[in-house]
Amino acid sequence: KRGFALTVASLLLGTTLTACGGGNVGQAPAPNNGGGSAPQAKEYVVGTDAAYAPFESETEKKEIVGFDIDLLKAVADKAGFKVKFVNTPWEGIFTALQNGERDMLISAITITDDRKKDMDFSDPYFEAKQLIAVSKDSKIAKFDDLKGKKVGVQTGTTGDEVVTKLLGKDSPDIKRFESTPLALKELQNGGVEAVVADNGVVINYVKNNTAQGFKMVDDPAFEKEYYGIAVKKGNTDVLNKVNDGLKKIKSDGTYDKIYEQYFGKKQ
Ligand code: ARG
Repeated sequence: KRGFALTVASLLLGTTLTACGGGNVGQAPAPNNGGGSAPQAKEYVVGTDAAYAPFESETEKKEIVGFDIDLLKAVADKAGFKVKFVNTPWEGIFTALQNGERDMLISAITITDDRKKDMDFSDPYFEAKQLIAVSKDSKIAKFDDLKGKKVGVQTGTTGDEVVTKLLGKDSPDIKRFESTPLALKELQNGGVEAVVADNGVVINYVKNNTAQGFKMVDDPAFEKEYYGIAVKKGNTDVLNKVNDGLKKIKSDGTYDKIYEQYFGKKQ
């Protein structure tokens, strides 16, 4: 009985709101950017290349999940905006930001001087570096050993950059793939002898594919990298909100909680 009454009430309410939708009557919700007394949280479209577990990946139900996703949701929560994640292939991800199809990007993106020319980055939210994946019986023991070997990378990533530096820009030994999973598949098939990618992703892959018999090779030559959330150059409004949320989740323990969920206790 009570449920029915509530339903009727909400139906009536719904009708009332619709009826005065165009005007500024009563408590009608303010438009997204309007200066009403109760402004609605703005929703931003976020691009992510969801083929980079555990940072971002797609479930069978096409749901985008991962550390980056949980992190940005928490940031949005604290800073008072909403986010909608859209799977965006790496190849076109920076263009999509540039032309306004995406308001921001979170995609395990390393902050580099080169990229800073074209976009603005939030404060760093994660430290990473490159790591080499090879088969268990491989003789490759350091980065330099990749010389003369076929190496797989994801096009345009920092992994691509370091391998290009080592082997030369036009080296036929570099096999570039549009995603890191494709590069790793090639390692599995024996088409490349090594894959260079971000440590978190390589560790996750080796851990989840024990049957294939891979191991990881680290090298002191790999420099520290820092991930940032990217916004269009000059979009300080969104950037300030993101940094504000980041500060809050770092200081109130939310960041550590999310971190531990994916990577275990921080050393
Ligand atoms: N951190 C590396 C870079 O910025 C790789 C990022 C790749 N991310 C992804 N979601 N595929 O170049």
